[in-house]
Amino acid sequence: MTDPETSSAAHQTIDTSVPHSARIWNYWLGGKDNYPVDEQAGDAYTAVFPGIVTIARSSRAFLRRTITHLVSEAGIRQFLDVGTGLPTAENTHEVAQRLAPESRIVYVDNDPLVLTHARALLTSTPEGATAYVDADVMDPKRILASAAETLDLGRPTALILSNILGHVADHATARAIVTDLMAALPSGSYLAVNDGSRGVDPVFEQAQDAYNESGAVPYNLRSIEEITAYFDGLELLEPGVVSVPMWRPEAGSPAPELIGEHGGLGRKP
Ligand SMILES: C[S@@+](CC[C@H](N)C(=O)[O-])C[C@H]1O[C@@H](n2cnc3c(N)ncnc32)[C@H](O)[C@@H]1O
Repeated sequence: MTDPETSSAAHQTIDTSVPHSARIWNYWLGGKDNYPVDEQAGDAYTAVFPGIVTIARSSRAFLRRTITHLVSEAGIRQFLDVGTGLPTAENTHEVAQRLAPESRIVYVDNDPLVLTHARALLTSTPEGATAYVDADVMDPKRILASAAETLDLGRPTALILSNILGHVADHATARAIVTDLMAALPSGSYLAVNDGSRGVDPVFEQAQDAYNESGAVPYNLRSIEEITAYFDGLELLEPGVVSVPMWRPEAGSPAPELIGEHGGLGRKP
């Protein structure tokens, strides 16, 4: 587990001259933890594709609905959230512990700025726990070893991969990461994935291609088939992998739109 004061990552210089994924995402979500360079990159993106703001906010709403299902319907009390991002409203532990205060959450990210905000994520109910691990998604072994300090990985656990797998350049590698992480979790565990999708909106794809060439950490959109393949070997819950607003919309919410962000929830048999 990482102590924000002593971690080597905490002492890395936060580079404010290059736009950064977590900070741009925070800007689109309406947060304040970003720099002018992120705002410029975020505005350049929305000038081409304003729909990215809907994608960011719909992703957080999907996260809230999947966590709610996992706690209230599936009885899950342990969460491993990789690619956490900067704290915004409705973080995983807030949604889970509001429903079940004993819930235990491990957050994982490799961004030094996210690390400096770890304290905001480390707040917990007295009955539960939250912890922050400074690790790379490319290193499932390290993630699992650190997570085991807070979670009992012999008990069902939900792995949350929300807008992180696109940061892995190659789809086969991303699939292998999911396989390795899920292999360490017992039957009755869950996988929630949502990711930017290709094949829905050509303007989104153009904006993302331009962003990836801008010097920012690239994010690779995946086809719906590729996102669905992350759930191989799992029981995919209804309605399957769909555009995130269409995943179990709350009663009374506006008619869900088709957007370039797909996700689903699967159970390990
Ligand atoms: C687009 S944000 C998603 C944040 C949040 N999960 C959400 O959906 O709102 C991507 C996050 O992944 C993190 N990230 C990017 N590459 C990573 C890597 N190789 N290992 C761990 N985290 C990474 C970034 O720092 C950022 O916080």
